Amino acid sequence: MSLKYGLSKILIVDFGSQFTQLIARRIRELGVYSEIISHKKLKSKIDKKSIKGIILSGGPLNVYQSKKVKFNNVILKWGIPILGICFGHQVISKQLGGRVKQAKSREFGLATLKKLKNSDLTKKFFKKNSSNNVWMSHADEVTKLANGFKVIAKTETSKYSIVENLSKKFYGIQFHPEVTHTERGNIILKNFIFSICKIKRNWSSKNQKKILIQEIKKNVGNSKVICALSGGVDSSVVAKLIHNAIGKQLTCIFVNTGLLRKNEEIQVVKTFRRKFKINLIYVDAKKLFINKLKKITDPERKRKIIGNLFIKIFEKHSKKIKNVKFLAQGTLYPDLIESKSVTGSQTSKIKSHHNVGGLPKKMKLKLVEPLRLLFKDEVRKLGLELKLSKDIVLRHPFPGPGLAIRMPGEISESKIKILQEADHIFISLLIKHNLYKKIWQAYAALLPVKTVGVMGDNRTYEYMCSLRAITSEDGMTADFYYFSREFMQLVSNKIVNNIKGINRVVFDITSKPPSTIELE
Ligand code: XMP
Repeated sequence: MSLKYGLSKILIVDFGSQFTQLIARRIRELGVYSEIISHKKLKSKIDKKSIKGIILSGGPLNVYQSKKVKFNNVILKWGIPILGICFGHQVISKQLGGRVKQAKSREFGLATLKKLKNSDLTKKFFKKNSSNNVWMSHADEVTKLANGFKVIAKTETSKYSIVENLSKKFYGIQFHPEVTHTERGNIILKNFIFSICKIKRNWSSKNQKKILIQEIKKNVGNSKVICALSGGVDSSVVAKLIHNAIGKQLTCIFVNTGLLRKNEEIQVVKTFRRKFKINLIYVDAKKLFINKLKKITDPERKRKIIGNLFIKIFEKHSKKIKNVKFLAQGTLYPDLIESKSVTGSQTSKIKSHHNVGGLPKKMKLKLVEPLRLLFKDEVRKLGLELKLSKDIVLRHPFPGPGLAIRMPGEISESKIKILQEADHIFISLLIKHNLYKKIWQAYAALLPVKTVGVMGDNRTYEYMCSLRAITSEDGMTADFYYFSREFMQLVSNKIVNNIKGINRVVFDITSKPPSTIELE
């Protein structure tokens, strides 16, 4: 099911910049709907009426390598305001008669931007001394202005840092207003969309809820929908949203793999069955998973076994519901954006991430993916709008294979129990000390190593627990969170004193890359 809202929007043309999604999020944060399209797709049928402005992203290519970048200049003739950022700025200049060359000195990091002329784009942007710090990341530069353009601002090394063609409402900027390092960068985006494109605010979680519920009703009609509920943010928001739209036509299936966080299954049943009165099939598959995972130590085999078993169980139980036509999934916008392949680069496979992706084909079901145009932070806001509790909506991500991949080596019921308790202590202390929200993801893992300790006068020989807490934007890269000595000591003491089976706690200080967030 494809959901494209008929809303007025800012179209973001992607040339493969690592910041394209950030631009889209910034526009949406300003209350305006934005969509990303690959520059390769500009030829396809596009509903021009709804586009009130266009932003051309940056990108890793060079505009003078015309073989690689066949820019479709049709958008320059649409009469719609355009803002080109970095590579996008160079594209506009080149297309309209300017010149772009490799710069004598590449410019990365902060630069001082100086105002030369007033412009609608920079209203209230410059500080009193007419100069701001902006963030640059480019090796090429515009060396000759395109026809009809004037210079608005420059830096020491980049003389065309902001340019404007007033009659066409085309703007080019060499720096990145979307990143937080650029002082007051948001004002530029705000001026572009509101003063220049004259688009009205149309994007809020209240609005999204209304639109999405209408779309679900229209697409699903009287049919039945099933949803694999995991208790995580995305599937919880999907379930609640669809329930609001079609009520009892929805059935959720929750599979307790036995690899969940402490008391997670209780919370899911309490929230969805008791509180929201959603049809919920609860499958206790703890024994099945533990049996299949016996003696398995290879991370990829663990993942495959869990993924396949999950699909089998889900399929079996969904057969009990008659006349199902749709399967609901919590696919998000970043999963769909094609920008990853703009530069033609292929990332090698690191892990087989487990989700229910294999299900629809096997079960011949149509998909309902109501979150497919939303970013994670928007999903969270929507969840709160749907009256899901903060506990669910603001929860850290949790991997499909659960605790199995936080326990390198063999898995056993007793080890799971130990790990659930350790994780619970760590997470509860993060919440109590107001640290949980500052951290993107945190968890405890149980290492397959026993070490010697001393408690009272006795020797102990028990497992080692490792703690991980990271900061991140999107899970693609991550850095470890720096706790105070006191906090680390508190967690360590509490875990070792309360959990029989752990006598040593270590803290993981690797970033991603070179490590990954999960251990397996
Ligand atoms: P890694 O370990 O690849 O994790 O750095 C990045 C993010 O993805 C989560 N993760 C998964 N999520 N199914 C999921 O739904 C999976 O199989 C899976 N493996 C890792 C991980 O928790 C982190 O947030």
